[in-house]
Amino acid sequence: MNVLLTGGTGYIGSHTAVVLSQLGHEVVLYDNLSNSSDAVLEKIAQIVGQDFPFVRGDVRDTELLRNTLASHSMDAVIHFAGLKAVGESVAKPVDYYANNVQGTISLLQAMQAQQVKSLVFSSSATVYGQPQYLPLDENHPTSATNPYGRSKLYIEEMLKDVASSDHGWRIACLRYFNPVGAHQSGLIGENPNGLPNNLMPYIAQVAAGQRSELGVFGDDYPTNDGTGVRDYIHVMDLAEGHAAALDFLTKTTGWHAINLGTGKGYSVLEMVGAFERASSRKVPYRMTSRRAGDVAECYANPKRAGELFKWTARRSLDDMCASTWRFQQSVELGGS
Ligand code: NAD
Ligand code: UD1
Repeated sequence: MNVLLTGGTGYIGSHTAVVLSQLGHEVVLYDNLSNSSDAVLEKIAQIVGQDFPFVRGDVRDTELLRNTLASHSMDAVIHFAGLKAVGESVAKPVDYYANNVQGTISLLQAMQAQQVKSLVFSSSATVYGQPQYLPLDENHPTSATNPYGRSKLYIEEMLKDVASSDHGWRIACLRYFNPVGAHQSGLIGENPNGLPNNLMPYIAQVAAGQRSELGVFGDDYPTNDGTGVRDYIHVMDLAEGHAAALDFLTKTTGWHAINLGTGKGYSVLEMVGAFERASSRKVPYRMTSRRAGDVAECYANPKRAGELFKWTARRSLDDMCASTWRFQQSVELGGS
């Protein structure tokens, strides 16, 4: 299949490009490089042994997207492109709606013009808002607590309308839980600019000595050890989930929401312990107050993905930590 990956040089996009290419798909990457670097192109080419076509452009450039879909005879699109930092979205809501919502409208216009009607969208477990029950299945009510989450929710609703307007559309909204880890080569991974917002890159930088300690956001949650519990999923499992979604879309039409998670939650302190084992380094931490907007626990019911995609996450927490550490060390050596 010929597949366009918007946001393809980003963290999840680059791992998915590797997986799809190794399964025999023809992959084209499209990215404005606002949160990634084209250096990743060399790394993924090194992993799979061939170059990837790359178009530098913004998803709001409908004409460029349309030309890209046409010139590469695309069959499907995986739409990763978007902004993703919750705190920043509160400060800059217009940027978030412009990039995420307007960007998706532009993509849909280009797809419609080229009659490309298979779409996999990067959604998030954030669309469940405050969990009313656990584990979270896809029938859990949706809501949003910040502009980032609201942009994902609006896009999901928009895609639902598109699918009901024309039964030729095939759309999968993949609700990711907490993606972590890196490709086993250590060549690609998550390397955020500045202070990491998320737990795993923060822990990795503390283990590497780049930061002195981790602040643990709250130790008084009603969990086993008082710290927040999340469903961490290895980015390579997530990437394989996208390949399974594409395959599923060849056999079905309509709009579908599917969780991509493991179904198992780990606390912050369990993550620290696992990382210390994987890296043989100490990760000093200090308890701090809760972060606004955080929930005590969040984990998936991954049953639907198993049934529809014949996919389950198979990599362990140790794999997640070991691969993150391998990537962190390659970054320290000036890798990327
Ligand atoms: P990322 O920032 O590494 O990748 C996103 C890519 O999109 C970047 O390369 C960026 O340069 C590009 N981009 C942003 N705006 C663009 C635009 N207007 N036009 C073209 N390219 C643009 O993020 P990621 O972690 O790989 O996330 C991919 C998708 O998955 C995002 O939509 C994100 O919201 C979603 N998601 C991520 C997580 C997570 O924890 N990483 C969790 C849930 C959902
Ligand atoms: C965050 C986003 C969520 C997004 C997800 C993507 C918020 C409020 N939520 O979720 O919308 O979809 O990332 O992966 O930003 N923690 C610490 N210290 C840190 C960082 C995190 O203790 O320095 C704790 C958090 O309180 C939480 C856990 O670690 O319990 C995971 O945090 P994080 O990686 O930021 O993910 P989420 O909060 O689940």
